Amino acid sequence: MQVSSIELDSVSKRFGSVEVISELSLTIHSGEFIAFLGPSGCGKSTLLRMIAGLETVNGGEIRIGGERVDHLPPGARGVAMVFQHYALYPHMTVFDNLAFGLKNIGTPHDEIARRIEEAARILEIGHLLQRKPGQLSGGQRQRVAIGRALVKDPKAYLFDEPLSNLDAALRVRTRVELARLHQQTRATTIFVTHDQVEAMTLASRIVVMNARKVEQVGTPMDIYGRPATEFVARFVGSPAMNFLPVTIRDRAGLATAVLGDGSTIDTDVPLDILPTGGDLRVGIRAEAIHVRPDGAVPGKVEVVERLGDRTHLHIRLTDGNTLVAEDKGVSQVQPGDTVPLAVEGATAHLFDDAGLAYHARQ
Ligand SMILES: Nc1ncnc2c1ncn2[C@@H]1O[C@H](COP(=O)(O)OP(=O)(O)O)[C@@H](O)[C@H]1O
Ligand SMILES: [Mg+2]
Repeated sequence: MQVSSIELDSVSKRFGSVEVISELSLTIHSGEFIAFLGPSGCGKSTLLRMIAGLETVNGGEIRIGGERVDHLPPGARGVAMVFQHYALYPHMTVFDNLAFGLKNIGTPHDEIARRIEEAARILEIGHLLQRKPGQLSGGQRQRVAIGRALVKDPKAYLFDEPLSNLDAALRVRTRVELARLHQQTRATTIFVTHDQVEAMTLASRIVVMNARKVEQVGTPMDIYGRPATEFVARFVGSPAMNFLPVTIRDRAGLATAVLGDGSTIDTDVPLDILPTGGDLRVGIRAEAIHVRPDGAVPGKVEVVERLGDRTHLHIRLTDGNTLVAEDKGVSQVQPGDTVPLAVEGATAHLFDDAGLAYHARQ
């Protein structure tokens, strides 16, 4: 098996006068599982297609395994792509679908058979090889599509939202299969998705993209625990992080955030990194806000969402701002209740009016 790094060096892409990717640089190490995560239209597919050779590059360089490839046709780049809308040949058996690309490039018969056997073993589709695509379930067809990439023995796998067409249960199962596949093959993988859960669960590093640019590159827990910007903080995590306008008071060098109703949240964010002047907001996730008798922040419960293992409480504070707090699965809280909220300030972040985040020291 071959495994290669992928380097993007200041790459840009324009469609007509519209710049979709702007001087983007990124190094993907050999064997990494990288997710490109961002909202629809932010340029994820375009960037992936530039790496695959399906889109031209208007500026910058792309290197795969150290070799410059941005002038090479797709077939010469040694990567395999799996799309959301995968097209299997309906009149061919699974075996022939898997063999097709290899036959075209003149791979010897016994080598084709060996690779298909190996792919079928990894993907557990050995019993399906003589069936036609019409005789397969959606998940089985998706596995054949992945198999077609696998038999190429590529330098890297490029996945573009490969799970989007599957129903919810199958999406979760296939996600786990992809994780297992990567653990077995350790192949360099780029996985495009707008689904933060897919990115969090699969990737060793996530590239969070937003209109033309990269907002943050980090491990899933970096992205979740230390989001670089308000955009990242809002995009990753469900429910979305709460944002409340605050003023700041000095607590022995750390920032205590004062809410509109005068109640306070003791953050661990150092005062000396905060900008002077301008408005600040505190960012806190629902799981850091609980109903507790000693809670310092009063609020009125408007909506109770019961998820089984936990309950989300949509709450209006006395200053009119709203937030989501988390309660246990079996929650006694009812809509209309006034509850005392305890906020774990240690996990709180502060955001300036440009959307930049300030965190506690590590
Ligand atoms: N062939 C094209 N011609 C013109 N505009 C395009 C083309 N392909 C994509 N775009 C535009 O580029 C932007 C990024 O698209 P895309 O990479 O498909 O986003 P994503 O995959 O993140 O949803 C969008 O605004 C889209 O409309
Ligand atoms: Mg796309």
